[in-house]
Amino acid sequence: MKNDLIVLGIETSCDETAAAVIRNGTEILSNIVASQIESHKRFGGVVPELASRHHVEQITLVIEEALNKAEVTYQDIDVIAVTEGPGLVGALLVGVNAAKALAFARNIPLVGVHHIAGHIYANRLIKEMAFPLLSLVVSGGHTELVLMKEHGNFEVIGETRDDAAGEAYDKVARTLNLPYPGGPHIDRLAHEGVPNIDLPRAWLEDDSYDFSFSGLKSAVINTLHNAEQKGLSIDPKNMAASFQASVIDVLVTKAVKAAKEFKVKQVLLSGGVAANKGLRAALEKEFASINNIELIVPPLNLCTDNAAMIGAAGSILFEKGKRSKYSLNANPSLDIETF
Ligand code: KG4
Ligand code: ZN
Repeated sequence: MKNDLIVLGIETSCDETAAAVIRNGTEILSNIVASQIESHKRFGGVVPELASRHHVEQITLVIEEALNKAEVTYQDIDVIAVTEGPGLVGALLVGVNAAKALAFARNIPLVGVHHIAGHIYANRLIKEMAFPLLSLVVSGGHTELVLMKEHGNFEVIGETRDDAAGEAYDKVARTLNLPYPGGPHIDRLAHEGVPNIDLPRAWLEDDSYDFSFSGLKSAVINTLHNAEQKGLSIDPKNMAASFQASVIDVLVTKAVKAAKEFKVKQVLLSGGVAANKGLRAALEKEFASINNIELIVPPLNLCTDNAAMIGAAGSILFEKGKRSKYSLNANPSLDIETF
């Protein structure tokens, strides 16, 4: 008798072609990521057409490698979970169509997964979830505080009104002439500099859990331009440190406030910016002194885009009865509360 639930996860929403095999929602049997960063770097950001083309070239190879590494065949796969949105439509379509074709050909149930739900469920590969929980989601396209009262149920209590945190990191990095993606470079420089430049923090209204990073981004750009016009030089390390201090200050303060207000048992850090060393350290320091709230921070390879997280989320959704039809389509603006 085979009791295990074996899920093949597929993720192609942006610039990583990824496939993974997950056992019982929590155990990674394989996790393959083909990154396209090198191809997009020379353009300073992700070029959608290029991303789609790379996904088409890579998808079959990546899925085969995930199965081989996990030492399973299609006969062992109980569910195919795929990112249906949000993301770049042409990129999402490659994963969705690959998943649908395999599900149809092999008669395997199909489950569409929201990309951010995937980022949140990356944490379940580390530690079992305890509800209610709060996830601070910080990625290239999203900055959200998501409250979960049970598996598969997501309530957005705060979100960015303009730029996402990762987007601000990448734009500021570009102004400092750092390569794409800029987040890790700013993170590295920030640790070599001092946060001695006065930059704004957008707290918004007193009771709001929303975020705003475009003012901060503009302040960095203006400060650099003004200095340049006056012939002054600003140390990029200090600018990186000051920018990072502002981002972290707002993220951590709002996450702590929400965690206390909603009396959560856990706080889960999710998304590409969760790889940020400064943010991880600040959250760890803050939550170390708060009793009864456990902070979970995934390892770096589970913070940035991967398919293990899609397999983890897909496992739960399948167990909760979710099945997607062959009419499943890529949805670039999929809503996490209703998907
Ligand atoms: O989640 P992700 O891989 O893709 C999206 O779903 O958007 O996030 C990518 C973002 C990029 O903006 C990248 O600069 C940022 O995560 N990032 C970082 C770090 N590592 C990746 N930002 C700050 N510090 C880092 N160490
Ligand atoms: Zn992502």
